[in-house]
Amino acid sequence: MSRLIVVSNRVAMPRETRAGGLAAAMHSALAENGGIWFGWSGKVSDSPGPPTELDEGGIKYVTVDLARDEYDAYYNGFANRTLWPLLHYRLDLVDYRRDTYRGYQRVNRSFARLLAPMIRDDDLVWVQDYHLMPLAALLREEGVRARIGFFLHTPLPPPDLVVALPGHRALMEALTDYDLVGFQTEGDRQACLDYLINLAGGSLTYDDYITMPSGTRTLVRCMPISIDRDLVAQQAMRASQQVTVRRLRDSLLGRWLIIGVDRLDYSKGLHDRFAAFGRFLDRHTEHRRQAVMLQVAPASRGEVPEYRQIRADLERQSGAVNGRFSEADWVPLRYVNRTYTQSTLAGFYRTARVGLVTPLRDGMNLVAKEYVAAQDPDDPGVLVLSSFAGAARELESAVIVNPYDIDGVAEAIHRAITMTLPERRRRWRELDEVLRGWTIADWRESYLTQLAATRNPGDS
Ligand code: F6P
Repeated sequence: MSRLIVVSNRVAMPRETRAGGLAAAMHSALAENGGIWFGWSGKVSDSPGPPTELDEGGIKYVTVDLARDEYDAYYNGFANRTLWPLLHYRLDLVDYRRDTYRGYQRVNRSFARLLAPMIRDDDLVWVQDYHLMPLAALLREEGVRARIGFFLHTPLPPPDLVVALPGHRALMEALTDYDLVGFQTEGDRQACLDYLINLAGGSLTYDDYITMPSGTRTLVRCMPISIDRDLVAQQAMRASQQVTVRRLRDSLLGRWLIIGVDRLDYSKGLHDRFAAFGRFLDRHTEHRRQAVMLQVAPASRGEVPEYRQIRADLERQSGAVNGRFSEADWVPLRYVNRTYTQSTLAGFYRTARVGLVTPLRDGMNLVAKEYVAAQDPDDPGVLVLSSFAGAARELESAVIVNPYDIDGVAEAIHRAITMTLPERRRRWRELDEVLRGWTIADWRESYLTQLAATRNPGDS
């Protein structure tokens, strides 16, 4: 039986309370056959030593600290000021610098050098996300012969946008050093194929392999990530007894709750969402005092200037909405920069009449799926979902909105709040059917089965 080696920027250590569904999926995959989870420790150190190892439950967690200059160039720099905005279609925010690109390569190379000696030929190596795009090529240089797969959790924009990145070709061709590359949506997969075929001389075979002039062969597939639907449903039911959830419910005094939960990130469309909520209160005076919006937005990437900026902007904007509409006994917008456990969030989702998920661009958005899974089947809430989230490709029975259309989102909130019980039930049943049909376990097993079935360079 092959061992699994997961590589990701962050490693979810056992019992970490922040860890979400992806972490749980990786833990159970690693626990099944034994394996290694390798990545950054989340710490910045003056003089990073050798990797730290922890063996628990058949899994070996191997983490490395980053030096300050590596953290700045790789994480704060190329990953989050260059690639992240590019992958989310925000060319206006792309800050390209040669030195941060070199730092990104350096950290990827150092990961490859540390990891390569731990990998056996019959292992399956699964690399996660945009921080580590060049890793397969660098592992091959270190002599690794095992199958290596990559999954991109973010969107991939079409070639017209990708070519704005200096060095785009090296980055995109690096994907063809993997045996399997997985994307969240068919659109992301098509963008990758369009680039590789039209700009890099690749050709697609009938069985979804892309063959490059250099001779590499890579299987390119769309495999949307999902959630553990039954677990979230159970958590939501149990959480209604939790103190935090009860306090939230009691504080509403029977008012409708509209909920948003997002990392504090410009891709999440929070500015437009607050504006839409304000427009809704403006237009539908009958709902004033009847609705409360809770936006949970834990701060993220706080050393990156664009993130400091959006934090300051949202503080101002939430204050403005409340200043304009609040009354002595009603504050319409609760804006909270903190994290809650998965089960508390599940309880919040079940309490909310409307789940507002309106990113300007998102790879998938698991909050959309979790909101659905957490609902009470007899009295479900309504999901209002951006057409620019990967989840919209599957959750077609949500109220789908264009997040740039402030009037449209304001009307969607009104529609969700006033929707009849039969319609809410019908939509929820259709959404829940989708979640039951494709869970996080299906995603993980399908990915690993396909990776195991790809050609092993060692076989050729
Ligand atoms: O895909 C985006 C992503 O890398 C997620 O996997 C993760 O939840 C999130 O961003 C966390 O970002 P950071 O590690 O930069 O806080």
